[in-house]
Amino acid sequence: MPTDLFAPYKIKNLKIKNRFMRSATWDGSADDSGAASDASVDIYNQLGRGGVGLIITGFAFTSSLGQAMQGQYGAHSDEMLPGLQKLVQAAHSGGAKIALQIVHAGIASGYLQHTKTPCQAVSPMPDVNRPHKQMSDSEIEDIIDGFAAAALRAKDAGFDAAQLHGAHGYLMSQFLSPVNNHRTDKWGGSPENRRRFHIEVIRRIRQAVGPDFPLMIKFGVMDDAPGGLSLDEGMETARSMIAEGIDSIEVSGGIGSPPLGADESTPEHAFYRQRAAALKKAVSVPVMVVAGIRSLKLAQDIVDSDDADMISMCRPFIREPGLINRWQSDDQKPATCISCRKCFSVAMKGKALACYQEQQLQK
Ligand SMILES: Cc1cc2nc3c(=O)[nH]c(=O)nc-3n(C[C@H](O)[C@H](O)[C@H](O)COP(=O)(O)O)c2cc1C
Ligand code: SF4
Repeated sequence: MPTDLFAPYKIKNLKIKNRFMRSATWDGSADDSGAASDASVDIYNQLGRGGVGLIITGFAFTSSLGQAMQGQYGAHSDEMLPGLQKLVQAAHSGGAKIALQIVHAGIASGYLQHTKTPCQAVSPMPDVNRPHKQMSDSEIEDIIDGFAAAALRAKDAGFDAAQLHGAHGYLMSQFLSPVNNHRTDKWGGSPENRRRFHIEVIRRIRQAVGPDFPLMIKFGVMDDAPGGLSLDEGMETARSMIAEGIDSIEVSGGIGSPPLGADESTPEHAFYRQRAAALKKAVSVPVMVVAGIRSLKLAQDIVDSDDADMISMCRPFIREPGLINRWQSDDQKPATCISCRKCFSVAMKGKALACYQEQQLQK
């Protein structure tokens, strides 16, 4: 029997109306302090009404030195709470659940480079020309506290869950990867030491939010760089994180992995499907897969093959926030997003996030 992707699904105690999820998407709409703006609320209103069961927000920085991009949401201070609450209301009023994604960019902060502030690095990286400084033990402890305070803010603002950004080469990826982590103290060296940051972040979050608040991670389960994190070690790390209180894992890439996966030259291809399938066999919490999924047929095949429990997409919702409503009605044609990446490259230049391919077609 095929699984009904439009039937409710549960992560821990969180009831989601279907198996579809909007993967975290930075939209550049926050003001200079990191507060959500009216434009941000519009985005979440549209998504909330569009049928997707669970929305993950764009990544929100846990402390000022962890900011990755301009226009990014902040979760670093209580002043962010009113804006965050508006995002929650927007999603809920349309019937969707919403999780706040929290991140520290570490050495990968393009934003700090732009403000000429040195990035906080796990280890010095001679090949990285962005100014950076190796973190001391007490700086690491402060960052862990920052994650716990941000997750508590997510709970206080009314989010249904928090999601750690543990992928795409940001700080969590940097700690885990032998390519970036050359430390010789308790934060580096053995797999146990390189994953210590993850374990401490999860423990401290659990102390702050209690046992019931759902805590998820978007996880680069392996690197695609020579000498990088292996799939076996990634899976071991996943099991350790679950033992500390992680409730679900969205599979994506780590250091050197293409975070967007598909581009317009490739036919529809679920980039991280095999990795998700391997993880799904090894863990008992819900597993989501992201990158490159564009059709209901492929989504159905992934879930029916038991390769993942939920289907996560990003760019298809930039072009069609109402995609899931469309699929649930009688129009089940694939997403109209052609994976061209123009939305991303134009937004990087400081323009509002939109489907620029669509705008070009309309000209
Ligand atoms: C404009 C844009 C912003 C993104 N922002 C985030 C983000 O804030 N956090 C994150 O984990 N991934 C982010 N991503 C990556 C997506 O969530 C997703 O992993 C990737 O686009 C592959 O999925 P897709 O093929 O369905 O687009 C972003 C991608 C794009 C195109
Ligand atoms: S610009 Fe539009 S079609 Fe191109 S990747 Fe972005 S959403 Fe998809």
